[in-house]
Amino acid sequence: MYVCSCFGITEQQVKKHAEDGACTPRQIASACKAGTDCGSCVRRIQAILGRGACPRRELADQGKPVLAEVSGLDALDEAA
Ligand code: FES
Repeated sequence: MYVCSCFGITEQQVKKHAEDGACTPRQIASACKAGTDCGSCVRRIQAILGRGACPRRELADQGKPVLAEVSGLDALDEAA
């Protein structure tokens, strides 16, 4: 079932990104653009994240970095 029809993102895809460390709608948007067009899916994404799809959520809640080791963002920063 689609969560974000603007970008054709499914609940499975959102869950996969959450497993990979995306714990907020913003991080999901960085990963797959879901939520960055009409925005009507953001609540659905929040609901999926709120159901514990992200195992690193506790780290995120503590303000600790959770994406660095999984997303390759560090490499992007170094290249910039
Ligand atoms: S449905 Fe996700 S941005 Fe429009």
